Amino acid sequence: MSWPKVVLVLLVAAGGGAVRAQEADEAVESTALPDDVTDVLVSVSHLCHFEKPLQDPTDLDGDQYCDCDVHSSGPSGLPEVHIDCRRHQLRDDFWQGYEQLPQSTVRLDLAYNALTAVPRLSGETLQYLRLAHNQITAVPDKVFANLSSLQELDLSGNRIELLGTDALAGLGKLKLIDLSDNRIASIEVNAFSNALALHRLVLSNNSLGAFFNRTESDLYLRLGVTNRLAVLEMQRCNLSDINLASGVGLERALLGHNPLQQLSNLPKQLSHLDVSGTPIRSLPARFLPHLLHLETLIMQDMPILYTLEQYALYGLPRLAMLNLQGSRNLSTIHAHVFGQNVVRNETDTELKRLILKGTNIRTLNSTLQPAFENLRLLDIRGAPLRCDCELRWLRELPNLTTLGICVRPSALREQRFGMIEPHQFQCRAEQFWIYTVFNVVLAILLIVLISVGIFLIVRAIRPKPHVQLRMVGANSPYARVTIEPNRAEVL
Ligand SMILES: *[C@@H]1O[C@H](CO)[C@@H](O)[C@H](O)[C@H]1NC(C)=O
Ligand SMILES: *[C@@H]1O[C@H](CO)[C@@H](O)[C@H](O)[C@H]1NC(C)=O
Ligand SMILES: *[C@@H]1O[C@H](CO)[C@@H](O)[C@H](O)[C@H]1NC(C)=O
Ligand SMILES: *[C@@H]1O[C@H](CO)[C@@H](O)[C@H](O)[C@H]1NC(C)=O
Ligand SMILES: *[C@@H]1O[C@H](CO)[C@@H](O)[C@H](O)[C@H]1NC(C)=O
Ligand SMILES: *[C@@H]1O[C@H](CO)[C@@H](O)[C@H](O)[C@H]1NC(C)=O
Ligand SMILES: *[C@@H]1O[C@H](CO)[C@@H](O)[C@H](O)[C@H]1NC(C)=O
Ligand SMILES: *[C@@H]1O[C@H](CO)[C@@H](O)[C@H](O)[C@H]1NC(C)=O
Repeated sequence: MSWPKVVLVLLVAAGGGAVRAQEADEAVESTALPDDVTDVLVSVSHLCHFEKPLQDPTDLDGDQYCDCDVHSSGPSGLPEVHIDCRRHQLRDDFWQGYEQLPQSTVRLDLAYNALTAVPRLSGETLQYLRLAHNQITAVPDKVFANLSSLQELDLSGNRIELLGTDALAGLGKLKLIDLSDNRIASIEVNAFSNALALHRLVLSNNSLGAFFNRTESDLYLRLGVTNRLAVLEMQRCNLSDINLASGVGLERALLGHNPLQQLSNLPKQLSHLDVSGTPIRSLPARFLPHLLHLETLIMQDMPILYTLEQYALYGLPRLAMLNLQGSRNLSTIHAHVFGQNVVRNETDTELKRLILKGTNIRTLNSTLQPAFENLRLLDIRGAPLRCDCELRWLRELPNLTTLGICVRPSALREQRFGMIEPHQFQCRAEQFWIYTVFNVVLAILLIVLISVGIFLIVRAIRPKPHVQLRMVGANSPYARVTIEPNRAEVL
């Protein structure tokens, strides 16, 4: 029968002598078993059909068995069985009670089947279990209790409505759980408290808005989420508020496409925040209060965002990447969006990448220059750039690569921003020589007029010379006297 062949395959694949010895013992045991017991064993591992040569090229997707591969390249050097049962039309009646997985099974993919209940699986070595895109409606208590090595569990794309307190019992090594694209409207208290090693939690696309509205306490305290959690994904959850204040380990929060009104309860050491698609009209001052470690802020496709007000991005000293791509109505970035302290050189900014692709930004105020000191990439493609004298400062920044195409003035239309020389960034007054000539003529005219004016004024106030004609007689003191040189001393 097929069971000895499984062992044989494992034997061939096994590297270590100890393992080989252990497997050999088991081989002896199983061959020693009577035939009916062997039958039981075979029916237990009915996911795989190990009688066929492994990785048989004639292995068809449509047959009754899953695709089972043995890999010997695992990090431990031990053989690993990977079972792929995707799109096998498996239904609930496929399982008879507990399913004992073949020995050394590490990966099991049951996605895109017709399961409505979570199968009861048992396997000491299973690390990755995928149940995505079935029609599972509930996660019974302790249903994963015999999968103690499980690290990743994918339950996305099902119809789960409620997550119970004991649903994840026994998953002490679980690092990632994906519950996205379900209908979860309620999560019981401490539902995640068994998942002590949880690193990433995906709850996106569930209707949790009303639930988190009702529960006032924060997500961590209420759901028993461990502080080890580093990544939280809750996009499209209809959230109007969320309290994550106790998440001292949280590094990445993906909260996009929610009707969020405020974001005041975020943990301080967050380094990556995505609030794309949030219907905010104007980013107010201190929108993100003091996220001192925030490095990446993603605000893509904000439907009605028009302005970033002054101080909107104040208090984010580590911010290196700001992405506003596709926020089509964004037309104004205030000169003091990073606060005046940056302008006054009181704090250093670390902004390195600024993505304004597909926004409605025409120009950027030169007061922003100190905040752009470390900027290396400015992507402003698709924005209606006005490449006039007001943008010249941007072209003159030494280490900045600016991607964008000028829309105005007409002389520079369709030209690449980076290809235009700084002196070509001109305002209308400087643009045409006729204006210059006109200005020069005007200036000369003015000078002439002023000179004439001054001349006339001076003439008007100068005292008129009084001409007094007197007769000068011979004995008048004004009469000419001739002094002889030799009579000088007598005088
Ligand atoms: C786990 O396995 C034990 C036997 O090994 C069995 O009694 C128990 O019901 C199993 N639990 C689940 C949830 O499969
Ligand atoms: C959200 O989940 C539903 C299933 O519950 C799915 O049909 C839909 O495509 C998902 N939406 C997105 C944007 O992923
Ligand atoms: C949450 O409460 C606010 C007001 O307190 C309300 O405007 C909002 O619609 C509620 N959100 C949900 C999803 O119930
Ligand atoms: C989101 O919440 C609002 C209440 O604030 C509710 O009217 C709406 O139906 C909810 N949307 C979804 C998809 O659950
Ligand atoms: C935002 O811009 C789009 C065009 O990109 C426009 O259709 C929409 O009406 C604008 N939104 C508002 C609130 O004006
Ligand atoms: C800002 O301050 C630093 C020292 O803290 C100095 O090296 C730098 O030149 C200053 N920059 C400007 C634009 O004043
Ligand atoms: C740039 O911003 C400063 C400070 O707000 C303002 O005084 C100045 O007029 C702005 N310049 C332009 C060209 O808008
Ligand atoms: C630009 O980059 C060069 C080399 O990468 C560096 O030496 C220089 O200091 C930078 N200039 C500025 C203004 O940051």
